[in-house]
Amino acid sequence: MLFSILACVFGGTMRNREFIIYEDYDSLSKAVALRMAEFVRTNPQSLLCLAAGETPLGALRALVALQSENKVDLRTCWYVGLDEWLGLGYGDPGSCAQIMQDIFYGPAGIPSDHLSVFDGLDEDTDFQTKKAFDFIKARGGISLALLGIGMNGHLGFNEPGTTVDFPGGTIDLDETTRTVGKKYFAKPFPLDKGITIGLKHLLAAKRILLMANGEKKAGIVETCMRESPDPSRPASFLQDHPGFELYLDKGAASRLLDRNQE
Ligand code: GLP
Repeated sequence: MLFSILACVFGGTMRNREFIIYEDYDSLSKAVALRMAEFVRTNPQSLLCLAAGETPLGALRALVALQSENKVDLRTCWYVGLDEWLGLGYGDPGSCAQIMQDIFYGPAGIPSDHLSVFDGLDEDTDFQTKKAFDFIKARGGISLALLGIGMNGHLGFNEPGTTVDFPGGTIDLDETTRTVGKKYFAKPFPLDKGITIGLKHLLAAKRILLMANGEKKAGIVETCMRESPDPSRPASFLQDHPGFELYLDKGAASRLLDRNQE
């Protein structure tokens, strides 16, 4: 019953691609959870790369609920965390590690050896980067990436200026990322640097699900989906990916819809 009604409004097109728009964040999240559950059922040993941030949390909670209803077993898959703020670890509320452990990896019961996340407290960032790359390589690459989009068009911490051959590692954070990032934290942290899986690994994934919700994302979604792919807007590189799926609520889709109706 929980998933019986997906309040799908209508679809649209952008550069020969279709996208489906959901009425609100709740229906968007449930649709993404169902899509991921379907993927996990057919690819039970696959490697998933999951973004933290606010956007995917509803989908991840819904996915855990599906497991508790015995509709999917998430524990057979493997998981690599997308990114982390340098200087922050699990003990810091708002860190990617804390959010993902408390919302998803913990409640889903993911075995620790099926999981690789960046430790933002480790000063040996080369080790952290190599650990993630080795984990991805051992699994034959990322099968599915669930991503959000930053207000500047970033994916993970692939900031504006990042090219498609960037495998990942540490990065100086863009002004927008540092400003917007304050929303995750109750107390101020210096948000200068991040560590991330790079575009090279993400774009090699078989499936990439990009979620966005709310009118605040409408402008950057339109830019990244309509303008030609360019490092100044990293999410624009998704346009040409054969396994790209775009999931939006009405707010985030509003500018794409306006253009479609012109
Ligand atoms: C954050 C993270 C990304 C996230 C994006 C959108 O800074 N680095 O992994 O997907 O920006 O975040 P949100 O979903 O909170 O809007």
